[in-house]
Order: sequence, then structure tokens, then C-alpha cells
Amino acid sequence: MSTFQIKNLEEYFQVYRKSVETPELFWAEVAEEHFLWHKRWDKVLSWDFSKPEVKWFEGAKLNITENCLDRHLLNRGDKTAILFEPNDPNEPAQHISYRELYERVNKFANVLKAQGIGKGDRVCIYLPMIPELAISVLACARIGAIHSVVFAGFSSTALATRINDSDCKMVITSDGSYRGGKVIDLKTIVDEALEECSTVETVLVVRRIQAEVPMKEGRDKWLQPLLDEASSECAAEVMDAEDPLFILYTSGSTGRPKGMVHTTAGYMVYTAYTFKNVFQYEEDDIYWCTADIGWITGHSYIVYGPLANGATTLMFEGVPSYPDWGRFWQVVEKHKVTQFYTAPTAIRALARQGMEYVEKYDLSSLKILGTVGEPINDEAWHWYNNHIGKGRCPIVDTWWQTETGGILISPIPFSTPTKPTFATLPLPGVQPVLMDEEGREVQGRSVSGRLAIKFPWPSMARTIWGNHERYRETYFSAFPGKYFTGDGALRDAEGYYRITGRVDDVIIVSGHNLGTAPIEAAINEHPVVAESAIVGFPHEIKGNALYGYVILKPAGEELDPNALRKEINALIAGQIGPIAKLDKIQFVSGLPKTRSGKIMRRILRKIANNDFENLGDISTLLNPEVVEEIIKNRL
Ligand code: PRX
Repeated sequence: MSTFQIKNLEEYFQVYRKSVETPELFWAEVAEEHFLWHKRWDKVLSWDFSKPEVKWFEGAKLNITENCLDRHLLNRGDKTAILFEPNDPNEPAQHISYRELYERVNKFANVLKAQGIGKGDRVCIYLPMIPELAISVLACARIGAIHSVVFAGFSSTALATRINDSDCKMVITSDGSYRGGKVIDLKTIVDEALEECSTVETVLVVRRIQAEVPMKEGRDKWLQPLLDEASSECAAEVMDAEDPLFILYTSGSTGRPKGMVHTTAGYMVYTAYTFKNVFQYEEDDIYWCTADIGWITGHSYIVYGPLANGATTLMFEGVPSYPDWGRFWQVVEKHKVTQFYTAPTAIRALARQGMEYVEKYDLSSLKILGTVGEPINDEAWHWYNNHIGKGRCPIVDTWWQTETGGILISPIPFSTPTKPTFATLPLPGVQPVLMDEEGREVQGRSVSGRLAIKFPWPSMARTIWGNHERYRETYFSAFPGKYFTGDGALRDAEGYYRITGRVDDVIIVSGHNLGTAPIEAAINEHPVVAESAIVGFPHEIKGNALYGYVILKPAGEELDPNALRKEINALIAGQIGPIAKLDKIQFVSGLPKTRSGKIMRRILRKIANNDFENLGDISTLLNPEVVEEIIKNRL
């Protein structure tokens, strides 16, 4: 039996037991067998969830890019590492071999060094899904710089907040991007953001759309001429196991986005191990994850996990609907994709388009289908299973988070029998528990509760950049001694987990985590808005959509409500990004509040969900009369 790959259910149970009974031995064996280390660790694990402090493979020395690139040169030099499929189907795909990727990463790393970037410096990457995005991520890791990738759909304000939070010294962007039929002017967004940022010394600009863009003297530099001058050999910086590898921001239920810090060795070992097992990757497979590298899914399962396994990872620049809704299936046929990993929101949108888009293409290369980002509903699961997998491809419903770094709960395909809407069983090393409202562990089967994890796993985030106390408070205070996920879950009679959704004020819209507080803050910036509250309501394609209740100042009551709705959404798009726009905006005279002044979101949520028959006791509210008005005028 190989330590690294689980091949059947019996092995899964054996390995799982070992990973719980002797976690250090288990992870040491995984780490020993499959990676390149400059120095072995002194201690596999030390941890204390009360501080919280977690260290994996302490004392080890390594560079993750040697594991993703150098060590494959001998046997896989000519194998395609990154298969780039452009937005425009008529533009040729690019097959970037491991050797070419190695050279391009090394050149880029030398450019970073020449521009004054060194170990520990933060580099913000704001790029579309083009090869340079993966290459710049790896180039940072090569020299020990900490990358902070910001999804290129975020607005200039959101970008500036993230650059400033971690004092980035450099921004890497492009002259623009293609997304479906649209061209997006990324450089202008960066220029606007940088008016608010004082730490950025250099902006490297990749050419993608051949646009004329203003270049600020002394600060902005075209990347290509610098690459042309650079050597294709750059010695990898030798990193400590616990040196930060990257920061990735995720929305919180309150306050500013949280810069989750992931470190080097544990993250590498865990993402590589879970990639191999969850996707059962074999040497000639063509693996495609449709996420953007701007999210954790792209970091762990487009870049690091696949490359650490010497896989071919497909990077897609476009969108599922361009030039038509057959695009995903056309790409699957064209490149003979074997593993396909996407989000429920995409599946629901695709399922609505009719079968002609699917039937046109040969999907027989597919072996395994994956889903991530939000609960998958029964209907979407069956459509995916029947029409894409043709009933023969196991679906891996993978549950995890930006904070967890890698997949924690998922079937192992061909081993774990799948069950629609269930993420099934924890992966080796993962010890989930369900907690009740009083903070007690819920034992047994056929139970539900709040999902927490009671033992560390190698790829967990170690802190929030610059705010360790917020990290403790957010994840380790609800249930002392345990990591709290913010999700609700149930465990069925077989011990399978089903994740039911967030139990905090994070709303998942089209697979994107959105905190209510920053959206409310954006709305409240409108000069005629007095106060607002956001809740989620079910949406056929997006999973959830946003419903806003807005109190206007007297001056606003004179204005055209539809024009105001547009202005409010424009504000949100400007402050956060178009993904956070509201589907419904109801103007109200008040918001239901407790006597201590707290907004009762539970009531607002029920009204938005058309479930207002049974609101419970509202007589203790400060202003119960407002509830009737809100129900009467609901949208
Ligand atoms: O609520 C869970 C949901 O997405 C949240 C994490 O979001 P984010 O940090 O953006 O990472 C998304 C990609 C890993 C979780 O707290 N979620 C993620 N996967 C699933 C899911 N909910 C149900 N089923 C899943 N498979």
C-alpha cells in the first residue's frame, strides 16, 4: 500500500485510522516519500489552539517551486505543465511544458529580484487568468516573496484596501483583460487604487490586449523587456517550513477583509496529497479546474497541488457563456479533459441552457467530476451526474475554505460511495466535530450542529496578516480548543457529512463569500441613505442573492426609487465589485431592532425568503410595527 494514494474504501479507513491515531507518523511518511527537502524537519507538529499556534514540519528547509518544477525536469521536462486555453476559441491554446515553465518562472523571479523584491516582501498580483498569473505566483515563491493575489474582478477600492493591509511593495497587472465579449481595463483600476497606496514602488505590466495604457514614469514597467534581459536560472530561496508563502483575502462577517496567511511546508504537503487523492490523478490525465487563481481553489488546485504532482493543469481565461453556453464542453472535448472541477452556480447556469450545448460535444474523456464553493442542490447534482458524467463519473463534492488551504471533506473517487449533496467523509488527518449551541460536542449519527475541527491539519491558515487576535477571536473562540468553520452541517446514519451553509453573516453568492458589513458600509456612503441591512435569499442560479433593506434620509424620499437602486448598486460595484450587487432593494421606514439596538437579521431573512408566517415573538422588539410594513411592501 502506498502512503500517498488511497485506492479503495478499505484502504481509506485504514489510512484514516492511522492519521488520527498517529498523526505525526502519518504526515511524516507522506512528507518523507514525496517531496524534495533541503533539510528534514526536527518536529512534525506542535500546536496549541488556545493561542492559537500551529507549526508543521518545524525546522525543515525547502522551496515549494523546486517541488513544483525542478524535480519534474528529469522525467517530465517535455510534459505539459500548464495548458492555457484563451478566452477566444480561435486563439490557439498554449502548451507550456515543465521545462518552459521552469525557465519562465526563473526569469520572472530574476526580474522581481532586479526590481528590489526579496524574501518576505509582499507582492500584489492583479491579473486575468493568463499564464503570467501562475508564473508570477511561482516566481514570488521562488525568491521567498509573499504573494497576495487579488481577483481581477475586484474594484479599485477593494484592491487598494488589500494592497494597504499588507503593505505591498509591488503590483503585477496587465494592460487589460478579455472576459467573454468584454474587454476590461485593469491598468486604470490599478492606477486608481494606487492613488490610495503609498507602499507600492513598482508596477509590472503584462501585455495581454495590446492597449495603449498610461505608464507612470519611474513606477510602471512593461514586463516583457525586463524578461528578455533576465537569466533563466534563479537559485531557489531556501525557506523555513513555517515561512509565509502567501496571503489571500477572504470576506469576514464584519470589518475589513481578512488576509489569511498560509505557510510553506504544511500547505505544500497537504495540497499535493489531497490533489492526488481527491482527483486520483494519473500521469496522462488532463485536469481542469475552472476557478480563478484569485481564489483559494485556484491557488491550491490549479497551481500548487497539481504542479507538485507533475500534473497537466488547464488554465481557462474565459467564461462559460462565451461564445456560447457550450464553451466548457467544447474545451473538455478539445483537450480530452479527464477531471473537471467547477462550482454549483456554474452547474446550475449550464443546466438551464438546454441539452443541445452538451450533446454537441464528446465528453467521453471525463473520469471524475468535482464541485466546490457552496452546497450543491439535489437537482444540480443529478444533472451533473447524468448529463456530464453520463452516470459513470464519480462526483467529488469537496468541502473546504480559504482558511483551510486544502479540501477537508470529500469522497475519494472510486473508493467512497457518493451520495447526492453530501461531501461524505473527512480526508485523512481531518477530525470534524459537530457542536451544539451550548458548545457541547454532538455525538453519534443522524445529528446536526455547527461544524468545527478538533485537530490541526497541515494546510490550515496560521494567522490573519497583522491581526492575530482577530484570527483567534474569529476561529478559536466560539468553541475553545477547536477551529470553528462558520458552517452548519449534519452527519447522517452512515457518518457522512452534508454541509448546510453558513451560520454567520457571510452570504455565498455564485460561490463567492460576501460579508454583509462591508456591503452595508458601501450602501451607507450614499448621501441619502440613513441605514441599511443585507440578507441572503435563495436564487435559482446564484445559490443565494442579496436583498437589501434601506432606510432613506428625508431628502431621499423625493427621489426616483429605481434611479436610487441603480446608484446604490453602482456604489457597491465601485467599493467591492459587481459580484456584490443587490438583486432586490426595498426602501423601508425602519429596521426591526432589539431593545439594545441590534438589527434582527433573522426576521429580515425570513421576510426575504417569503417565510413570514412564523416570525416568532416580535413583541420584544423596539419597533414591532415596522415588521408589518416591511412584509406588506416586500419585493
Ligand atoms: O460555506 C462553505 C462553502 O464555502 C465556504 C468557504 O468559502 P471560501 O473561503 O471562499 O472557499 C471556497 C472554496 C474552497 C465554506 O465555509 N463551501 C465550500 N465548499 C462547499 C461549501 N459548502 C457546501 N459544500 C461544499 N462542497
